[in-house]
Amino acid sequence: MGFRHRLVAATAAATLSTVNVASAQSVELVNRATASDPSSFASQSFDYIVVGAGTAGLAVASKLAQDGKARVGIIEAGLYLPNDPLIDVPKNFGQNNGNPKYDWRFNTTPQAELSGRTVPHPRGKVVGGSTALNYLVFNRASKQEYDAWAEIGNDGWDWNSLTNSFREVSHYTSITDNQTFPNSLDANSINSQSEQYHGTDGVIQVSYNTFETDVQDPYVQAMNSLGVSTNSLPDSGNITGVYNSPTAVDRTTGKRSYAASFYVKNMDNDHFVLLQGARATKIDFSPNKNKDGNVVATGVTFDVSGTSYTVKAGKEVILSAGVFQSPQLLELSGIGNSTILQRFGINTLVDLPGVGENLMDHAMSAQMWQVNPGVVTWDQLRINTTFAAAAAQQYNTTHDGVLASTINTVAFSSFRTVADNDTAYGDLLNTLDQWINSTSLTPLQSKQYDIQKRWINESVPGMEFVMIPSGGLTRTRPANDTSYMIISAILQHPFSRGNVHINSSDPMELPAVDPKYLTSPFDVAALVQGVQFANKLVSTEPLASLITTRIDPATNFTSGAHFEG
Ligand SMILES: *[C@@H]1O[C@H](CO)[C@@H](O)[C@H](O)[C@H]1NC(C)=O
Ligand SMILES: *[C@@H]1O[C@H](CO)[C@@H](O)[C@H](O)[C@H]1NC(C)=O
Ligand SMILES: *[C@@H]1O[C@H](CO)[C@@H](O)[C@H](O)[C@H]1NC(C)=O
Ligand SMILES: *[C@@H]1O[C@H](CO)[C@@H](O)[C@H](O)[C@H]1NC(C)=O
Ligand SMILES: *[C@@H]1O[C@H](CO)[C@@H](O)[C@H](O)[C@H]1NC(C)=O
Ligand SMILES: *[C@@H]1O[C@H](CO)[C@@H](O)[C@H](O)[C@H]1NC(C)=O
Ligand SMILES: *[C@@H]1O[C@H](CO)[C@@H](O)[C@H](O)[C@H]1NC(C)=O
Ligand SMILES: *[C@@H]1O[C@H](CO)[C@@H](O)[C@H](O)[C@H]1NC(C)=O
Ligand SMILES: *[C@@H]1O[C@H](CO)[C@@H](O)[C@H](O)[C@H]1NC(C)=O
Ligand SMILES: *[C@@H]1O[C@H](CO)[C@@H](O)[C@H](O)[C@H]1NC(C)=O
Ligand SMILES: *[C@@H]1O[C@H](CO)[C@@H](O)[C@H](O)[C@H]1NC(C)=O
Repeated sequence: MGFRHRLVAATAAATLSTVNVASAQSVELVNRATASDPSSFASQSFDYIVVGAGTAGLAVASKLAQDGKARVGIIEAGLYLPNDPLIDVPKNFGQNNGNPKYDWRFNTTPQAELSGRTVPHPRGKVVGGSTALNYLVFNRASKQEYDAWAEIGNDGWDWNSLTNSFREVSHYTSITDNQTFPNSLDANSINSQSEQYHGTDGVIQVSYNTFETDVQDPYVQAMNSLGVSTNSLPDSGNITGVYNSPTAVDRTTGKRSYAASFYVKNMDNDHFVLLQGARATKIDFSPNKNKDGNVVATGVTFDVSGTSYTVKAGKEVILSAGVFQSPQLLELSGIGNSTILQRFGINTLVDLPGVGENLMDHAMSAQMWQVNPGVVTWDQLRINTTFAAAAAQQYNTTHDGVLASTINTVAFSSFRTVADNDTAYGDLLNTLDQWINSTSLTPLQSKQYDIQKRWINESVPGMEFVMIPSGGLTRTRPANDTSYMIISAILQHPFSRGNVHINSSDPMELPAVDPKYLTSPFDVAALVQGVQFANKLVSTEPLASLITTRIDPATNFTSGAHFEG
């Protein structure tokens, strides 16, 4: 199944010229051409071995192999899937999630605070990683959030340093005059000032939607009425406000732009060698420690179709297998909490109990409303065949329109803005203080909580609202003749902490993921405030006039956090 990038390059070139080649066929060709290659990959001499051709791995590998500086080998379990509409067409976002062709299909362990529910966690098993599966919103965090990385000891990870890297990866296309975002999301202000925060030579295409639904502008105006002002410069380090987010879409082709572009860029670079369909099973270490007393990684063992191979790294092994599988590989290789390793019969090389701990995930709660007849949303694609045919035709000919669009209307707010009043805000802070006082914290947690509390006090936004102009992403199935709007309230900096650990010594088994959602009562109280704010928003004009009724949860649902994962 594995193959080198040069052989893929030839196949990809052949398929790229034929727009509607079935993706299954191109995968078939690729695999046949390269069936015997893992041993040749394993016998090559590399300076670096990168585990995982995802968002981080491909960017790092590309940088290292630039200008012939170093030879880099990359191991990836998934395949490169060019010309696949379930990856490429922006409006298809979410449709490849849960499909084993693209997705590792993680599920959490049963979550006590969610009545024992498990929550699916799509993770990309494909060249490009989870950037082939996400919803294409290309936005940034607040300056303070990056600066905190540097503050806890990661030199060079502050906002000022990182903005140079942000510029390096992006190729920014400004809003054009015919991409109308009237009044509230002013096109000109974004157009004229945002360019300084993006690059023009990077491989990731960054642009704006060219299609606007009827709910977007009223939504923005309702936000403005509730004190969330429009932010025309959201990539500047200040994310506060409601804004028209850039998206990772190539405006020329109308396709998703994602980390696989780093691979495409390096197809002719013989210092960049990607082995696909190969699953890393262990990092190998030298039997002797170095002069500082540290273990030294020498290479990686990987599996292709049941056969095991080992490839050597002259300089370093770079582990970029994602938030769940990087700790899994460390543990399988003997680095982690020795009690856990012993349980699975793994010899401890380094007793490092932090591995797999302190897992955080931003919980969200989505609600869906029915909108009045005649209000145009993405649901038109589902309920109006004339509209759907015109959209497909437009995408086919000019590569734009609704099928080239994705989620773009996002808002970030401080808890003070989200909370109903001073009393509600005070109660929220008290809930947090009381819980922290009664909880025993690790030193890292302590440091993180101090920073998170400071952010709350400095009004660094802790709540995100994502507006989806469509039904279909909550539990209630949309009706055939009806249009909807979803607002999701998302906790940006949860205080709940979970973990991810191996559940077997077999590297083919997925690790157990336990985010411990909502175990901090602050997270529950904050999400409830977010859910209430969304309800206030749909009662605010001019949005209120477009709304029929709340569908999910039903209007008779009046208390408790409705968690959607
Ligand atoms: C938008 O305008 C540009 C020129 O300003 C034009 O080239 C392009 O075709 C227009 N796109 C649409 C979808 O009208
Ligand atoms: C951030 O942007 C918002 C929206 O434009 C604005 O209201 C706010 O004052 C800005 N905050 C800072 C610290 O500049
Ligand atoms: C190691 O794991 C065991 C078993 O889960 C746990 O009881 C122990 O607290 C962990 N050790 C540390 C230092 O976290
Ligand atoms: C269906 O879509 C077409 C094309 O956008 C539009 O003209 C028509 O009014 C729509 N029909 C309904 C019932 O909304
Ligand atoms: C798109 O164009 C291709 C040919 O280039 C054609 O086979 C296909 O039917 C078209 N699809 C739509 C929806 O127009
Ligand atoms: C403040 O907000 C809380 C929570 O929404 C609400 O119960 C309370 O009545 C409000 N108090 C005032 C004075 O408006
Ligand atoms: C938390 O503990 C601190 C110090 O012990 C104390 O000053 C504070 O009042 C406590 N806060 C709450 C809400 O219990
Ligand atoms: C919040 O900030 C204010 C001034 O900006 C400061 O006086 C206060 O002590 C801070 N509160 C906390 C809990 O850090
Ligand atoms: C909705 O459409 C599907 C397929 O077109 C059909 O099977 C189903 O019966 C329809 N449901 C309703 C409620 O009309
Ligand atoms: C962990 O392994 C046990 C025993 O094989 C199994 O029953 C359990 O479902 C696994 N848990 C997860 C989260 O995979
Ligand atoms: C809400 O109403 C529906 C249908 O009438 C019913 O099935 C459901 O149990 C009710 N839920 C609550 C929380 O009362």
